[in-house]
Amino acid sequence: MPHIQIKAFNELSFPFSHEEIDFSFIATNVNFPDDKLICATSEDKTFLLQLKHNEHKWLLKSDKVTRVSPNFHIKRALNAYANKAGLEILFSNLKQKEMHHRQKESALKAIDFFAKSFPEEKEIWIEVGFGSGVHLLHQAQNNPDILHIGIEIHKDSVEQVLKQIAIKELNNIMLLDFDARLFLEFVPSNRVGRNFVHFPVPWDKKPHRRVISHPFISESLRCLKEGGTLELRSDSENYFAYALQTFLDLNQSDFRVRKNQDIGIVSKYETRWRKMDKNIYDITLSNHEFSEPLENDFDFSLKGRLQADIEALNGTTQKSKDGFIHFERLYKMHNGEYLLRLSMGSFDKPEHLFIIIKENESNYFPSLPISSRTNYQSHLKLKALLYG
Ligand SMILES: C[S@@+](CC[C@H](N)C(=O)[O-])C[C@H]1O[C@@H](n2cnc3c(N)ncnc32)[C@H](O)[C@@H]1O
Repeated sequence: MPHIQIKAFNELSFPFSHEEIDFSFIATNVNFPDDKLICATSEDKTFLLQLKHNEHKWLLKSDKVTRVSPNFHIKRALNAYANKAGLEILFSNLKQKEMHHRQKESALKAIDFFAKSFPEEKEIWIEVGFGSGVHLLHQAQNNPDILHIGIEIHKDSVEQVLKQIAIKELNNIMLLDFDARLFLEFVPSNRVGRNFVHFPVPWDKKPHRRVISHPFISESLRCLKEGGTLELRSDSENYFAYALQTFLDLNQSDFRVRKNQDIGIVSKYETRWRKMDKNIYDITLSNHEFSEPLENDFDFSLKGRLQADIEALNGTTQKSKDGFIHFERLYKMHNGEYLLRLSMGSFDKPEHLFIIIKENESNYFPSLPISSRTNYQSHLKLKALLYG
């Protein structure tokens, strides 16, 4: 994660622009004054930098929730702030070479790109958790008429695969660094030919974090065109047994189970398991239904006369039977507005968000939650809490 360690922080007056970065505000944690967030915009990407002070160290780094890819934008913003404020840098990891960042940007898409207008021209194959990207790149090279969408939450893997896409000059891959479980909720119905879930993390101790679940399977079936397949490949006996049961729980299903099949391409993980002589299981679920079109035109506005005592909500969690809202941290800006960090949604796939709270209106920041049913339900609860 890009960061700089500095001797001391120097707070500038906002807004200002420097080295092509627009800095619009700084906000201070109401409980920990050394925890600050700085809003930066590089080209069309708006995100937060976070200042932290611990163990006698000052760190200026990228905020996790609003973090953008490629890292290039964050590095530019950190450098620009440090230069303008004359910060004395004790350590920095900003010097790595920025290869192909322009090409990288064309393959890497923000969630908004898919939320606003989902690509329509080609058949789509999805790969959930592509890791080193061996399988994704192989499929893209061998199936040029398909649009391959790779989804991965591990940012370093995304950066690595972006480099490979640029080197191999592939133009039929789009990458997204996002939770695939949330992503599926706004893929249009009947659009996907194949959805690969290869070697998902088994999460034996935290099963709620698993990719395969009842909601994931039903969303996958909705997205799959007739004859499309959801393809799980796993080395974990536990995960295989769990997935098999989850597929069997469907009222009607058509799936095929295979053991130790060669699929013509060996990923990094698979190489490791093969060396250990582990068994490898495939479950391929076929879709035979035509699904109703997706309804996701939700209104995420937050307007009215603020009723809630924001400072009193800070640190609290509101739970209901299908979800929760956790008010994680509260920051205050110079103009008296609040910047609230919260998580909300269902327990197994929460979304982390920021909201700028004003007297008569609040805005999700820097962009709206993705337009999924789960998020909309949480939004309605949040609206009722803030505005009655
Ligand atoms: C064990 S690795 C397997 C990587 C690759 N499929 C392979 O076969 O080598 C699992 C990958 O899934 C990613 N992952 C886990 N949960 C995810 C989620 N909800 N959405 C997207 N990616 C996820 C992890 O970051 C990790 O890179």
